[in-house]
Amino acid sequence: MQKITIAIDGFSSTGKSTVAKQLAKHLGYIYVDTGAMYRAVTLFTMRNGYISKEDFNVNGLVEKLGAINITFKFNKDLGFAEVYLNGENIEREIRTLEVSSFVSKVAAIPEVRYQLVKQQQQMGKDKGVVMDGRDIGTVVFPYAELKLFMIASAEKRATRRYNELIERGDDVKYEDVLRNVQERDYIDSHREDSPLRKADDAIEIDNSDLSLKEQFEKVLQLVNMTFKNLK
Ligand code: DC
Repeated sequence: MQKITIAIDGFSSTGKSTVAKQLAKHLGYIYVDTGAMYRAVTLFTMRNGYISKEDFNVNGLVEKLGAINITFKFNKDLGFAEVYLNGENIEREIRTLEVSSFVSKVAAIPEVRYQLVKQQQQMGKDKGVVMDGRDIGTVVFPYAELKLFMIASAEKRATRRYNELIERGDDVKYEDVLRNVQERDYIDSHREDSPLRKADDAIEIDNSDLSLKEQFEKVLQLVNMTFKNLK
């Protein structure tokens, strides 16, 4: 069967990765979490002391971009690919609220985006890929056969993210998570380079009140329709 490219964009914690993983598994496609790549660069930036609450040494980071190697390795037990920074598995470390608090600033740097977009396009060049992020349908794969744009209320998203963080043992407050979600929404959609926006041909899915099963069924219908329209 002909392979397609599925682009999933949307605000943070809208469940993009959940649906992307389900779809990739169902179709036997590669799943690429592009947010994890921006988070990996952010972790690198933090570890090298280029960013703090008070300061961001953008030039320092840009000069060192060549020293960043991001790869994905499929973990059979988890059923998805984990992200590695220069050979180190950083899947857990990139999901902290601290990384979340800096990632939108790092992701707004054009040199960072240029490098990661190039790598993402290479990963999806043979199609058969489900990629989620903020600019997949607008910049990375503007010709994707299916584009989804996920939305949900900020409170719903913060609650989901808060529960995830608490479940894994992180000590966080709901208010801080909510503030982070709102801050990232603002920076991600107002930056100059590739701001988050719905592509004209993307299909919007509001999952505020959808169960995971309902959401998957809806998305699967769209996938099947896309395949039918190819013929
Ligand atoms: O999907 P996520 O929450 O893990 O993404 C983390 C941040 O990375 C998000 O706040 C904005 C940025 N990002 C981006 O700018 N472009 C992408 N394609 C994916 C993520």
